[in-house]
Amino acid sequence: MTPGALTGKRVVLGVTGSIAAYKAVSLLRALTKQGASVSVVMTKAATKFVTPMTFEVLSGQPVTTDLFEAHQEMKHLSIPEGANAIVIAPATANFLAKSAVGLADDVLSTMLLTSRCPLIVAPAMDGDMWTHPTVQDHVQTLRSRGAIVLDPEEGPLASGQIAQGRLAAETRILESIENLLLPLSDLRGQRILVSAGPTQEALDPVRYLSNRSSGKMGYAIAEAARARGADVVLVSGPTALTPPPGVRVIPIITASDMAEALSAHFDWSSIVVMAAAVADFRPKAPAAQKLKKGTGAAPALELERVPDILAMLSAKRASQILVGFAAETQHLVEQAAQKLAAKGLDLIVANDVTQAGAGFGSDRNAAIILSRTGIRQTFSLRPKTQLAHDILTTIVEFAKKEPRKPTPASAR
Ligand code: CTP
Repeated sequence: MTPGALTGKRVVLGVTGSIAAYKAVSLLRALTKQGASVSVVMTKAATKFVTPMTFEVLSGQPVTTDLFEAHQEMKHLSIPEGANAIVIAPATANFLAKSAVGLADDVLSTMLLTSRCPLIVAPAMDGDMWTHPTVQDHVQTLRSRGAIVLDPEEGPLASGQIAQGRLAAETRILESIENLLLPLSDLRGQRILVSAGPTQEALDPVRYLSNRSSGKMGYAIAEAARARGADVVLVSGPTALTPPPGVRVIPIITASDMAEALSAHFDWSSIVVMAAAVADFRPKAPAAQKLKKGTGAAPALELERVPDILAMLSAKRASQILVGFAAETQHLVEQAAQKLAAKGLDLIVANDVTQAGAGFGSDRNAAIILSRTGIRQTFSLRPKTQLAHDILTTIVEFAKKEPRKPTPASAR
């Protein structure tokens, strides 16, 4: 991290009662060296391991340990105010449980309920505790709410056991704080073409065939790419979403409009992310006038195939990175791998659309990303805004390792 990189950032460092509490002293030093203003909040148990005075001297700020003292000044409410992040390091199994269920029996757990700022949690505990299903459930709950939980590392523990339970290395904790607080500019110079939303295929002038896509995933990717410095063109089917700031949006209705808009910007682009849910079939001969109910039998619907846009782009690409999505209801990885190869893609983001709380319309999603080079990354359920960054980071990593020109679909 560049010295002073966190100047102007406010961090709340929560320390709980683990032997690893002493490592929080060094973390605090590192954060203040980077220019961050750090308020330390300790649980009662933490004070048995390190004195509040140590943190007070090093942070240059009073340390909060007592809910009732804090309460007199309503401090449990005001501490996180204006904070850019809350970092709990180390977090005990007990603290994970309290934060997962929303228990508020001390100043730190109460503060978590009053705060809405991003949360980083670095657990430390005995290996058997870490792998206990209850602890894992709590970790999963925290992650599903958007918290960044840094898995503990394997090594010798205070109990004498060699297992996974050591507090994440300071460099890892610092890196995740930096990723959270410092705007990335790793996509500067990239021109990203994103598609989002459903397409609508007319049956007649008033009716259409469409799907349940809300466009949220594609919009989140466009917004995140812009924030990371890319020039972004978003080709969007009909959605109820607000255009992301700084992104050029091209509204379209049908799959063939989408194909046209994407083709027109394809040569300009360096990365294409095809998050749209494009129709696979459309009415063969949409009626020019509204179909009347009449009194006879219901009309039969004749459909025709819609050409695959991704495969078409893949066949004519120069050096663009092509990223597709695969919305599946079964055999997620197999189906996605098959699409990755068939469409000549670099990466594919596979979603299980039957997973509770994920997929179409939801604000959250889980994904497995596969690459043609064998990368396989799993992202558990998380806000689409966060998954958007994870997808972009995977693309950036892929591009760094695989700068060579890909083979178009037609040559396979
Ligand atoms: N796609 C496309 N053109 C189409 C249909 C889909 O470019 N006519 C893209 C989607 O935007 C997505 C990827 O192909 O990035 C996979 O879409 P998906 O609907 O999961 O798969 P399909 O190829 O349509 O196959 P199936 O519906 O049989 O699962």
